[in-house]
Amino acid sequence: MLNGRFIALGVTGSIAAYKAADLASKLTQAGASIDVLMTESATRFITPLTLRSITGRPVFIDMFDPGTEMAEEHVEIARRASAVIVAPASATTIARLAHGLAGDMVSLTVLATEAPVLIAPAMDGQMFEDEATQANLAALRERGYIVIGPAEGRLASGRTGPGRLVETETLLGALKQALGRDGDFSGRRVVVTAGGTREPLDPVRFISNYSSGKMGYALAEAARDRGADVTLVSTVTARPCPYGVRLVGVETVAEMREAVLAACDGAHALIMAAAVSDYRPAERAGRKVKKGPQEKSLALEKTDDFLLEVKGSIIKVGFAAETDNLLENARAKLKAKGLHLIAANDLTAPGSGFGTETNQISIIDAAGEVEEVPLLSKYDAANRLLDRVAPLFEKG
Ligand SMILES: Cc1cc2nc3c(=O)[nH]c(=O)nc-3n(C[C@H](O)[C@H](O)[C@H](O)COP(=O)(O)O)c2cc1C
Repeated sequence: MLNGRFIALGVTGSIAAYKAADLASKLTQAGASIDVLMTESATRFITPLTLRSITGRPVFIDMFDPGTEMAEEHVEIARRASAVIVAPASATTIARLAHGLAGDMVSLTVLATEAPVLIAPAMDGQMFEDEATQANLAALRERGYIVIGPAEGRLASGRTGPGRLVETETLLGALKQALGRDGDFSGRRVVVTAGGTREPLDPVRFISNYSSGKMGYALAEAARDRGADVTLVSTVTARPCPYGVRLVGVETVAEMREAVLAACDGAHALIMAAAVSDYRPAERAGRKVKKGPQEKSLALEKTDDFLLEVKGSIIKVGFAAETDNLLENARAKLKAKGLHLIAANDLTAPGSGFGTETNQISIIDAAGEVEEVPLLSKYDAANRLLDRVAPLFEKG
């Protein structure tokens, strides 16, 4: 979604300016054309040469420089940008933007653009918490600017608190969300489940499966990038939640059931990418079970099949990860659970299934028709599945 887009990246006088190089690099690798704009102060922290070398494009600092295209059309970058991101945004630049000043290339472009504007503050905690900065940021939010962060942590001053520029991944996520806000999932609430449920045996052991949660996270990201409001019910909370996605951490099937039923209230689609345990230990020991001389056997009881409890006009999509009789088992699951679509996943196929970065799915619809999707990255496979969900909204 960044490929072929013009993104304006404003860099200002913060100690975090060096991180703009990483963002510029990642955006360039994703195929975007980056117009870097720098304030004079920013050039004291990082050289324009670095950013020019990374992006392979001119860097704009002086709007009156007769050697640049700005001399002819000072708002050209504002006009061609699909999004403007100011990262890092200094307290001074934030104050300028709040007052509509346009005395430098960064603030001029922000003022002149009609594209979404993202502001990533980075400064010392005291500067961030100062009333003036807070009021300026509130004014920017009020005008529809997207303020990302700052993160909390160790600051350049040696103190700890809010003021750190958020991670590049977060900036990329925020950009993609902004670019996709009018996509075909705009105004839709989507619930995605991810990971393998864990059913405890005692306080230190559990029964689970190899699900990594990657497919669910890819689905959450892809739905966000198409404009959806996404809730991710996940057992793998150690993985960073995609920016803009609401994360509900769960462990057991019972917890997942409760979280999914609550999140599905008023939602338009539920996509069950989690690997949900069919059985759980019939008993859970309150203390760690100690090793003894005897063999042990484990009694299991069935878990709740909560998909059937999700009511209303919501579109339901399941996954069937199988080692045998893939399509047959997937079709049976689609029917038994009243799904609109099911993604059949051959766990024995190379590059497919748990833990991999890629997946090969076959999408089966309610009529039993099969669409074979080739081996793709999980994000691309997720989009192929969402391509099939979008038309169901119109019908439903
Ligand atoms: C070493 C050093 C580090 C600084 N780091 C920051 C910072 O992280 N955030 C910030 O808002 N200002 C920081 N400043 C102050 C800004 O550079 C200064 O306010 C400048 O006028 C910002 O201008 P600009 O917004 O036009 O880039 C720093 C100054 C120095 C000397």
